[in-house]
Amino acid sequence: MDYKTLSNGVKMPILGFGVYQVPDLDECERVVSDAISIGYRSIDTAQAYMNEEAVGNAIRKSGNAREEFFITTKIWISNYGYEKAKASLDASLAKLQTDYIDLVLLHQPFGDYYGAYRAMEEYYKAGKIKAIGISNFAPDRVADLAIFADVTPMVNQVETHVFNQQSNARKTMDEYGVQIESWGPFAEGRNDFFTNETLVAIGQKYQKSAAQVALRYLIQRDVIVIPKTVHKNRMEQNFDVFDFILTDDDMAEILKLDMGESQFFSHADPETVKMISSFKI
Ligand SMILES: NC(=O)c1ccc[n+]([C@@H]2O[C@H](COP(=O)([O-])OP(=O)(O)OC[C@H]3O[C@@H](n4cnc5c(N)ncnc54)[C@H](OP(=O)(O)O)[C@@H]3O)[C@@H](O)[C@H]2O)c1
Repeated sequence: MDYKTLSNGVKMPILGFGVYQVPDLDECERVVSDAISIGYRSIDTAQAYMNEEAVGNAIRKSGNAREEFFITTKIWISNYGYEKAKASLDASLAKLQTDYIDLVLLHQPFGDYYGAYRAMEEYYKAGKIKAIGISNFAPDRVADLAIFADVTPMVNQVETHVFNQQSNARKTMDEYGVQIESWGPFAEGRNDFFTNETLVAIGQKYQKSAAQVALRYLIQRDVIVIPKTVHKNRMEQNFDVFDFILTDDDMAEILKLDMGESQFFSHADPETVKMISSFKI
């Protein structure tokens, strides 16, 4: 496994496993257990995924030492504000069955995220969280938080895949030492992702799938990836991306796939703010 060293020195696996849209607790425990058996040690969950308990169960039952794992969770908007965020962090620690969380992110840039961030800073300084960060923060929000917060966020998890490569947004993240992490590394399959001609053709040279080429591309661009699948054979496939290297020509071809915009929605659209903020946990 390769690692990225965050701005505070914490090492984070460059490849992890995401559990969005696996709300059934038994199913989630099963997929995380499968992922652990393959070798995944970084697991990305969130309060809003309603499956932190299943992640905690799978990790505890694996028998592996807690220190082997890198656990990420995210505070949801309805838990924002200083006091509510602290209570929600205590609840996340209990559900994950651990006395520290490796990385906690603000899930969305809406509502009283400054209050929640102050709670995260407090838990970070107390050693209950090893790194703190943000998610879905556009460059202006990254700069704002980096300038006014006490602890500069270490990670920004944003939609990043070959069709939306975040080249511009990365300039601001780089300026403030914020590590980019991809959500939706396959764009959840949108835009015929897995049969994309460029990805398939490049993959044929290395006996790799479009999915593997897409992950490898992001890894070579220093992007942390957390692909999700409920299928064990796909977990194996997505983990098997460290035995080939894309050439400069391959990289240049894939760079051309960038459309520079979301395959989902814009966080700058008021309708998106309304839609996302209406979800309460
Ligand atoms: N911060 C945020 O706002 C945010 C938003 C979205 C996601 N995330 C995080 O990022 C993680 C990954 O993103 P995502 O789950 O949205 O989407 P994704 O990883 O881009 O795509 C997942 C989809 O691809 C399929 N898939 C996975 N591996 C495959 C393979 N090798 N071949 C063919 N199909 C494959 C999966 O199907 P099967 O499961 O049926 O195999 C699933 O439908 C999430 O799980 C979550 O942890 C964060």
